[in-house]
Amino acid sequence: MPLNILVTQKIPDPAYPLLEKVGTVDANMEEGRIWSADELLQKAPGHEYILSLVTDTIDARLLEACMPHLKLVANMAVGYNNIDVATAERLGIVVTNTPGVLTETTADLAFGLLLATARRISEAERYLRAGEFTAWGPLLLCGTDVYGATLGILGAGRIGKAMARRARGFDMKLLYYNRHRLPLEEEQQYALTYAPLPELLQQADFVSIHAPYTQETYHLIGSRELALMKPEAMLINTARGPLVDEKALVLALQQGTIAAAGLDVFEREPVVEPALLTMENVVLLPHIASASVKTRTRMATMASENIVAHSNGQPPPNSVTG
Ligand code: DGY
Repeated sequence: MPLNILVTQKIPDPAYPLLEKVGTVDANMEEGRIWSADELLQKAPGHEYILSLVTDTIDARLLEACMPHLKLVANMAVGYNNIDVATAERLGIVVTNTPGVLTETTADLAFGLLLATARRISEAERYLRAGEFTAWGPLLLCGTDVYGATLGILGAGRIGKAMARRARGFDMKLLYYNRHRLPLEEEQQYALTYAPLPELLQQADFVSIHAPYTQETYHLIGSRELALMKPEAMLINTARGPLVDEKALVLALQQGTIAAAGLDVFEREPVVEPALLTMENVVLLPHIASASVKTRTRMATMASENIVAHSNGQPPPNSVTG
């Protein structure tokens, strides 16, 4: 019996021949077109494999509708909060992700976003493009120094540590907060000092979020946490939108509780709190942290390899299910 594989969005080309070797590929080839939950519910049943993206809601209703055929969902992302993993486990469906391959690319963007926010890069470019640059000025678009400042890393996993390595090149002092403290050797290797969350928020000039989105991390940063930050501090989020209470963030920015924010992810993606769009002290990006050609190609290949392995009776290398 040929295996049926559903690919929910157009992905980098090298993935398709890998998948075609093991089954019939039914793919959404319309670039930028995201199937709605109802479309997915219509299309997915009958497939043994789904290669999904973070924009797909793979919930209990969908998983149950895909039984008894569905064997594995390969998410082309390191995060998999879009998938109801508990239901998948109950139904015996394997879920895989793409860890590791996007670490450096994501940290590059996170650090770039930090620099852009601190040095007002987007605002300065808007100013120039608007024809307002008529003369150099001693007070023109002065920002905040990054070198030597204190960076608070929320979530010192793979990406958080890659962020720490970049920050050391800027002579930054590094604090981190994790649910579980890192082994001493790792703290030393990355020059990371552990701080409980309130202390980190009180001391950091920049707070950068790199934690996964789970029930426990929902609104990790809300009004209480923002109130602990310094008025000149900046918040950077390249992890997941719901880790930050976006309405509380808007208020904090409006009231000067914190100075600025750099956001690549949003609470109700792709919807952005309208007030954020009007603020000069906020840098906004459309969830592009892992978006380099090389990395997205590796992610697509890795997701496909998980499907290939499973179809060959081997354990998929990146299973997140037990
Ligand atoms: C991930 O991998 O989780 C990203 O957010 C999608 O690129």
